[in-house]
Amino acid sequence: MIKNDLFLRALKGETVNRPPVWMMRQAGRYLPEFMELRKKYDFFTRCQTPELASEITVQPIRRYGMDAAILFSDILVIPQAMDIEVEMKPNFGPYLPNPIRTAKDLDKVIVPDVHETLGYVFDAIKMTKEKLNDEIPLIGFAGSPWTILCYCVEGQGSKSFDKARGLCFTQPKLAHSLLQKITDTTINYLKEKVKAGVNAVQVFDSWGGMLSPVDYQEFSWPYIQQIVDALKDEAPVIVFGKGCWFALREMANSGASAVGVDWTCSAQNARYLTGGAITLQGNFDPARLLSPPEKIKDMVTQMIRDFGKDKYIVNLGHGILPNIPVENAQAFIEAVKSY
Ligand code: CP3
Repeated sequence: MIKNDLFLRALKGETVNRPPVWMMRQAGRYLPEFMELRKKYDFFTRCQTPELASEITVQPIRRYGMDAAILFSDILVIPQAMDIEVEMKPNFGPYLPNPIRTAKDLDKVIVPDVHETLGYVFDAIKMTKEKLNDEIPLIGFAGSPWTILCYCVEGQGSKSFDKARGLCFTQPKLAHSLLQKITDTTINYLKEKVKAGVNAVQVFDSWGGMLSPVDYQEFSWPYIQQIVDALKDEAPVIVFGKGCWFALREMANSGASAVGVDWTCSAQNARYLTGGAITLQGNFDPARLLSPPEKIKDMVTQMIRDFGKDKYIVNLGHGILPNIPVENAQAFIEAVKSY
């Protein structure tokens, strides 16, 4: 039994005294204690060492006492496990030296045994659960197949992922086979994460908003739906798409327990588009955490009034920025806890 089950109750749509709160990318970005570890160990060492990954996961909880923890890891461990080389270059971000652009490239991509290739993640989950001591739930996550394809084809981050979209439109069969391999791997991976102990899973479609609404229905949504179908009886699923207000209706009707909203969609529109019955999560502009703490508190209180305290999980509209002062993040969490 989890002692603070606010987050799990909000996912079930139950009535609560105040909404739960956590922040996307809360583990490892802006905290001084994280920066200390970052100096000593490279990125994938931090991900692959359960002592480090679990420590980074609980760091923000110790400091702020959020209502849920999210495991420190990365969405790009999936392509890595599929035999696609992924590097994390300091001051550059993800770099994939051999991007997938042809049928020959795709042939080399495997659907791995997740126990063999991603066992370190499951070990990190078990160690984190011990450290959390059933105080709060632990969230596991994966990228959406489309968002993972973006990196596999582009080979690095991008403002528009033109090569990834280009591959979909010039070689749709190839794109769909890659998307299906990613989906199969992701389903096996998330199921094992639940077995290892995570209490909910979130799918990040960070680049879904790069697609037109019509193309989204072809290249992103069907694969997320497969993931929801496969996971929803194992654990609550949260679907988050950045820039995907046009897909909120599908998301709400998918069998997911909650839908993430970014800050470009108002609470009222999000409730309208999702039909009013499903739990929503979001949607504070991450850059708004640069406002003075008093302003942050006022805006968070207003945001809770706009979404309503029930069927609502307070969060940012995307990941926290690396340059956020610790006292501003504190103000965000405190505003919810004192609501
Ligand atoms: O709460 C958490 O931070 C948990 C861990 C987490 C990381 N990445 C750690 C990380 C999570 C949930 C992610 C998800 C992720 N990774 C997404 C989806 C969410 C989103 O923000 O849209 C995406 C698109 C990635 C890919 C990725 N990983 C990029 C683009 C970068 C470089 C830029 C950056 O800092 O985000 C990473 C590296 C990364 N992943 C870092 C961390 C803490 C920073 C690198 C470092 O610490 O050395």
